[in-house]
Amino acid sequence: MNRRQFVASSSALAIGSLARSSWSRDSPAGAQGSSTSSGQHRVIIDTDPGYDDALALLFAMSSPELKIEAITAVSGNLPIEITLANSLRMVEIAGRTDIPVAGGPKTPLVRQGIFAPEGHGDNGLAGAEFPPPKVKPVDMPAAELIRSVVRKYPGEVTLLPIGPHTNIATALLADPALAGMIRGICMMGGSLSGGNITPAAEFNIYVDPEAARIVFHSGIPITMVGLDVTNRVVLTEEHVRTLEAGHTPVSQGAGKIARAVLEYWRKQGFVSKPILFDEVAVAEFLDPKLLTLEDYYIDVETSGDITAGETVGYSPIHGEDQRWLNPEAPRTGSRDPAYYRPPDIRGSAPSIYRPGSSSFFTKTYKPNAKVAVDVDVERFFRLFIGRLSGKQVAIEV
Ligand code: BDR
Ligand code: CA
Repeated sequence: MNRRQFVASSSALAIGSLARSSWSRDSPAGAQGSSTSSGQHRVIIDTDPGYDDALALLFAMSSPELKIEAITAVSGNLPIEITLANSLRMVEIAGRTDIPVAGGPKTPLVRQGIFAPEGHGDNGLAGAEFPPPKVKPVDMPAAELIRSVVRKYPGEVTLLPIGPHTNIATALLADPALAGMIRGICMMGGSLSGGNITPAAEFNIYVDPEAARIVFHSGIPITMVGLDVTNRVVLTEEHVRTLEAGHTPVSQGAGKIARAVLEYWRKQGFVSKPILFDEVAVAEFLDPKLLTLEDYYIDVETSGDITAGETVGYSPIHGEDQRWLNPEAPRTGSRDPAYYRPPDIRGSAPSIYRPGSSSFFTKTYKPNAKVAVDVDVERFFRLFIGRLSGKQVAIEV
């Protein structure tokens, strides 16, 4: 399949995806009830370590609620050779070499790779050094590992993507029935309030917007944990000292990475202290009370020369296109569809030079994601630092 066919087939996937019943408003996608007899949630973490991915992996592997069926590395913050090696390093530090790890392709679906050493250092761990990993990746591509795990446990597996969506989209394209077998997706990615790599786009979506579009069109219940909340979650000297004071390999490893990135961001001249992006998505899946979620229809800009990767969100309660069906009827304040017309979803206006070539369309509003709009930062750090520093911290009720 060439690249043109690859993208064309993604529209077919979007049309052919299974319709889903809506999921509970209060829980992140895939987190209602456990999916194993031991009460754990089966998850696959798709990741591009990256300092924050590395800490997120250690956090997830220190959380007994999770049954991590696989870790799949994707090209993103650094090239795949580095993100794969760092994924393997993290399973070694956590003593979890039982978890299969696989690597994805060198490039996004149709674009050249873009990397972020300015935030993560050339080794992805802000210069923190660990020995080369001894454990080997499994002998199959990441997308194949995702497919095989999901097919082994249909309806039970939640995907936790904390990098670009290349591996997940590749799996969905290869296996159109797969979307209907995935319990949910809880991602770090996107933003409703501007980007961090361009004014429009958040890094994970920017790197592979075509893949992200396939994911948002898949019909899989999605929780989007974007910059709107993650930008408020920053690492401090006090957090680092607590990690360094822990006696477990995880606490020591996390402390070493955290210390390195604190220093690296200072030397790089960043105004902010290091942001813990990916950890918030993992924490959200563990603790449904951490974030405030709102329904949105999210689509991804793929054609803009300066906006590719923007996540555009339509809300039934925000924005100007909010209407009552009968303007003369008494206003109840209710968003009951009997009285209230949700916004139309529309694309850009068609070109006068190439009629029919535009993505212009309108369709009825139907949310495809729950988007995080607020975060309890202290609650997050109690769980995150507690787990990494080796304390038996339970989820607060
Ligand atoms: C995301 O991009 C990466 O740099 C981080 O690991 C995170 O997943 C934040 O935009
Ligand atoms: Ca990441």
